[in-house]
Amino acid sequence: MTKAHDVLVIGSGAAGLTAALALAEERQVLVLAKGSLTGGSTAWAQGGIAAVLDAGDTFENHIRDTMVAGAGLNDLETVEFVIERAPQSIDRLCELGVPFNRESGDLHLTREGGHSHRRIVHVDDATGWAVQEALLKAAEAHPNITMLPGRSCIDLITGRHGERYSGEGRIWGAYALDEATGKVEKHVARATVLAAGGAGRVYLFSTAPRGATGDGIAMAWRAGCRVSNMEMMQFHPTCLYNLEVKNFLITEAVRGEGGHLLHPETGHRYMVDYDPVRMELAPRDIVARANDDQIKRDGLDYVHLDISHQPPEFVKEHFPTIHEKLAGLGIDMTTDPIPVVPAQHYTCGGVKVSLDARTDLPGLWAAGECTESGLHGANRLASNSLLECFVFGEAAAKDILACWDDLDEPPPIKDWDESRVSDSDEQVVIKQNWTEIRRFMWNYVGIVRTTKRLERAATRIRMLQEEVEDYYGSFVVTTDLIELRNLLQAAELIVRSALERKESRGLHYILDYPETDPAARDTVLVP
Ligand code: FAD
Ligand code: SIN
Repeated sequence: MTKAHDVLVIGSGAAGLTAALALAEERQVLVLAKGSLTGGSTAWAQGGIAAVLDAGDTFENHIRDTMVAGAGLNDLETVEFVIERAPQSIDRLCELGVPFNRESGDLHLTREGGHSHRRIVHVDDATGWAVQEALLKAAEAHPNITMLPGRSCIDLITGRHGERYSGEGRIWGAYALDEATGKVEKHVARATVLAAGGAGRVYLFSTAPRGATGDGIAMAWRAGCRVSNMEMMQFHPTCLYNLEVKNFLITEAVRGEGGHLLHPETGHRYMVDYDPVRMELAPRDIVARANDDQIKRDGLDYVHLDISHQPPEFVKEHFPTIHEKLAGLGIDMTTDPIPVVPAQHYTCGGVKVSLDARTDLPGLWAAGECTESGLHGANRLASNSLLECFVFGEAAAKDILACWDDLDEPPPIKDWDESRVSDSDEQVVIKQNWTEIRRFMWNYVGIVRTTKRLERAATRIRMLQEEVEDYYGSFVVTTDLIELRNLLQAAELIVRSALERKESRGLHYILDYPETDPAARDTVLVP
């Protein structure tokens, strides 16, 4: 089945819907999402969105904090571009009806690690859900937007897929699996915006939702885009430790509002030994490494995050979602410490994009967590990522609309090759490989790395890639298989980038090269 729209947007999170809404002012837009429309990371965001809104704060402060957290690997022009547009992004979200917390009429600003000032606007401790709802409501109401959930994009359509060759790199949309029917559709468009989120699920422990399997990064790489800084995988210091509930984040705002990290046996407030000035509000890489160090050094299962010294009403008012969730598990955060561990949280690297969200390939723009725009450098500053989605989603739309008349009509495109007709009866192979990748990535490519362990991971990836490509070539595609293939591709890019960086910087901490080079350089992989 062929569906032709002016613009195809892959992803219905903050980046995809921001682009779609701006594009829909002039063009017909199709939005595809794997699983449900709320299945991306956006809906899970807790802390909030960073923006300079307080009279005592400045853009220069926010820019400096972003560069310090990013260990100098950030691109200054991008950092300025995003941070200067933050207040207008917040205005736009207010217009869309996001009910940000207010105090005497003004937006309430909370604080998170690495920020020198209070500058995080939020909706209690569930900001992402409120943002996702408001964007979805606006997109659903827009006559020029069609949204199709339950579509797993398999690959981008390139010049090779045209019935006549139309340029190797030109992108004309995507092939997508209809998850309900099992049929592969082609969605052809003059312009495509990739907004498919991160690759967090490549790790065994991650705060990211199930679908964060690096599909966008892998599809762009296969089509011919460069990717950069994939070794910069961010680990959040405080994911709930619970044997039943996995992947539940305890927002950094708990530390921002006074929470302490304590050794669970001695009660020692150990951040004093790692970063005595900034303590629990040091950038995330430092706090995550400290937690990891405490756990590994003393053979602990977890460390404690304690905010019970604040008045109970204050805690309940600021963190209603977390309070309720923990209460259901028998933890009263107003009186008890919370057991926490570090977990993968954010993919700083991705598809290389310019300030107008262009990728290397004509016809393809990209925005959000699947990209590397230069904003985050070697470590993302808390609450800068939703902001990046809004700014780059808008930038992509603006650029597409500006160059619309120069974009050719799509040529006739071949249907999906249906020659892989046999259904696999080996689901267990997929499950086994998923678990294996995520486990060795956690053990070999985690918070603290060594060359030897990275090489070990690279060998495992090569073997699994052969097996999965063989499998992919023989059997009918399923979402699980698409994800496994992409997960492996993302793992390969992470390990390859980590082996290329022969220094420790930000999130990439490698025992063989503990020093930081004087000059900061991106790790850019070329397909
Ligand atoms: P996502 O919101 O992840 O959306 C990806 C979209 O792509 C989804 O619709 C998905 O279905 C679709 N997709 C993926 N693969 C395919 C495919 N093959 N075919 C079709 N569609 C596909 N950032 C902040 O700034 N502040 C916070 O407070 C904050 N808290 C966070 C809390 C948690 C628990 C997590 C996990 C992240 C948090 N982040 C936060 C990070 C932030 O939420 C994400 O970086 C951001 O939401 C990413 O938005 P996105 O639009 O790029 O992708
Ligand atoms: C959090 O609420 O701690 C997450 C904030 C972020 O990832 O930006």
